[in-house]
Amino acid sequence: MTGYSEKDLHLAAAAGVRAPSLHNSQPWLFRLHDAAIEVLADPSRVLPVVDHDGWATRIACGAATYNARLALAAAGHPASVALHPAPGVLARLTPADPRPPTYAEQELHDAIPRRHSHRGPFWPDPVPAPVRVRLIAAARDEDGWLDLLVGTTAVNGFAEIAQSADRVLRRDTTYQAALASLRGEVPVSAGAPLAEPYDLLPQRLFNDRPRANGRDYEPEPLIGILGSPGNLPMDHTVAGQALQKVLLTAVASGLDTSMISQPIEVPAARDQLRRSLGRTGFPQIAVRLGYGTPGRPTPRRELTEVVRDFGPGPDRINGPGAGEGTGAESEA
Ligand SMILES: Cc1cc2nc3c(=O)[nH]c(=O)nc-3n(C[C@H](O)[C@H](O)[C@H](O)COP(=O)(O)O)c2cc1C
Repeated sequence: MTGYSEKDLHLAAAAGVRAPSLHNSQPWLFRLHDAAIEVLADPSRVLPVVDHDGWATRIACGAATYNARLALAAAGHPASVALHPAPGVLARLTPADPRPPTYAEQELHDAIPRRHSHRGPFWPDPVPAPVRVRLIAAARDEDGWLDLLVGTTAVNGFAEIAQSADRVLRRDTTYQAALASLRGEVPVSAGAPLAEPYDLLPQRLFNDRPRANGRDYEPEPLIGILGSPGNLPMDHTVAGQALQKVLLTAVASGLDTSMISQPIEVPAARDQLRRSLGRTGFPQIAVRLGYGTPGRPTPRRELTEVVRDFGPGPDRINGPGAGEGTGAESEA
């Protein structure tokens, strides 16, 4: 196979758009360029106040890249990946040798449409050790890391950091005004129920749906901190790919997930979180994992809005999602 076709592009984009993104901003574009499929940040979708340095855009585009890779692999056209190969291009997928998908690729690909952020309470059932091991390996496979917080001291410590970061963001009137303008991007059905003062973790308010009687959050949530070795723009894209592999591995293992990013968005909280983990590297997002009722889908933009067959050159798509750097070749 010498190059990808428009059909491959559409296949990759259809899977890519199902990736998570901060406040459902969907900050990605997909295009064919020299018979390669490229993932770019869409400057019109980058949230200037909430994501001023482009971290969330790159996480989302990294996750979209991972989905695109799985879709191509599932179609028998796996990709070699170059991250940040040119200014403004976050990932370039070129065809590797054709082969049937592995069982693992097929399983994760099948999980893509079943992954939805689940912000409601989970059942208290613990996540078995073999599943935890699989989740940690999933992050590592994509050059990230996942630290699962063990014990109430670690979980409560994280909760305190997350709550204080949430308070900082709630007091920030510019941030709150930006958030208000995004209401509606996440439907009521996918939002968390109204918070109670005794809730351990902060939840983004996407609606004012009261919670069902007696349905409190799980007392000992399983929290994973997903991170990357560095904190350069390319590390965020790497972390996005690792995040998506972790989320899909969770779904394939029967789990539901939601994300918590307040402690990443507030620099002091992020630093505190990093130090509390006692490891090298940089936290990029927190994931809550557990068993719940199936999560509800959040709408996506039409493919026609995100696929640019003959779109503008990378130099015209230089937004805060863009970052310098070459290298990081891997195969799906
Ligand atoms: C970088 C990033 C940060 C996020 N932060 C949060 C968060 O703090 N709280 C939350 O409920 N969801 C968070 N999300 C999840 C998005 O709100 C969610 O992906 C989006 O609404 C689309 O819904 P879906 O995940 O069900 O497809 C985050 C997602 C990303 C990629």
